[in-house]
Amino acid sequence: MGEPQPILDPLTPAAIFLVVTIDEDGEAVARDLLADLPGLRRSVGFRMPGSGLACITSIGSAAWDRLFSGPKPAQLHEFPGFAGERHRAPVTPGDLLFHIKAENQDACFELAMKIAERLAGAGAIVDQTVGFRYFEQRDLLGFVDGTENPEGQLAATAALVGEEDPEFAGGSYVIVQKYLHDLNSWKALSTTEQEKVIGRTKLDDFELSDAEKPANSHVAVNDQDEIGTIVRANMPFGSVQDGEFGTYYIAYADDPAIPENMLIRMFLGTADAAYDRILDFSTAVTGTSFFAPPATFFEALPDAPAAAAARLDSGPRSASPHLERGSEASERRKEEASSQGRGQPERSGDRVDTGSLGIGTLRNL
Ligand code: HEM
Repeated sequence: MGEPQPILDPLTPAAIFLVVTIDEDGEAVARDLLADLPGLRRSVGFRMPGSGLACITSIGSAAWDRLFSGPKPAQLHEFPGFAGERHRAPVTPGDLLFHIKAENQDACFELAMKIAERLAGAGAIVDQTVGFRYFEQRDLLGFVDGTENPEGQLAATAALVGEEDPEFAGGSYVIVQKYLHDLNSWKALSTTEQEKVIGRTKLDDFELSDAEKPANSHVAVNDQDEIGTIVRANMPFGSVQDGEFGTYYIAYADDPAIPENMLIRMFLGTADAAYDRILDFSTAVTGTSFFAPPATFFEALPDAPAAAAARLDSGPRSASPHLERGSEASERRKEEASSQGRGQPERSGDRVDTGSLGIGTLRNL
């Protein structure tokens, strides 16, 4: 298994989430940035001892095809979006996700600036969210968020791809969504009512008993014993000027079907609940899926698609040992992809089979 990015490290008090799109012809700059990121992080972090600066870099499905030749993470596809009768989870653009986290905001901000400088002219930052710790890891609804995250080896098993996809073992599938809370309606509820929406007590964060916990409570709908386990690193964000109060939802999983199933249950309902009641107070405004490769991936990126194609066209191999190695690596990846029956998405008619569950899709809406 490749060494994972710092997905399993504990939550920090500060984070910045950058979602980026890559311009047409911006691929070379984006690749350079990806290759240099570990060094950028070291340069910023080393000057700030104790900051614990970390960055988890993830790549979207379409961007993967533009940036790399060779095999692709087996389950990587675009965020499908979900439309329930009452609430919807929209799909929003994003080629790269930088989940920057640290003990202090200045460290996050400095690295975010460096990333933006390196992308200038080749991409756009489509979302920047500044996340902060709020009291005892509470969300802006006032509830402790993250308690039932798995720990230790269970967290690694939940978040990290294993030997089922050996090329990408140690990587993780990522879903992000920004939710905006209607705090006026929320605060109009009594604490007891709020606890029924979440399914846990507010002050001391205990799960309600089965008898007390409504089927449409957030915890009942997302019962991990039933659906599977994910690692969440949600952060509150907001602007008092704009009256914006939100939760940045970010989930890491070894299989994107698990968080997608949770979203299906939240938005389309379960056998016992029409939808997750938290959605009456929280509106999803973004939704994007990515893959966070193992850290080692960035040390030797796969060839760019054009470079790989040019080498295959050029007949006899180049005498350059460097190019020789790159070409061999690229061919090895291609051979492995075809022998394992994966790689580029399969096309059937006009439809690209992205591997998505395809339920309640909002794509292109
Ligand atoms: C408005 C956005 C959200 C807020 C404020 C929120 C808040 C919370 C809170 C307070 C808890 C209880 C404590 C805990 O175990 O962490 C919780 C649990 C959980 N949430 Fe969320 N959440 C949000 C969105 C989501 C989404 C979109 C998903 C999945 C698609 C999700 C999945 C879960 C899971 C799996 C649990 C643990 C359930 C269990 O096994 O007990 N949450 N969330």
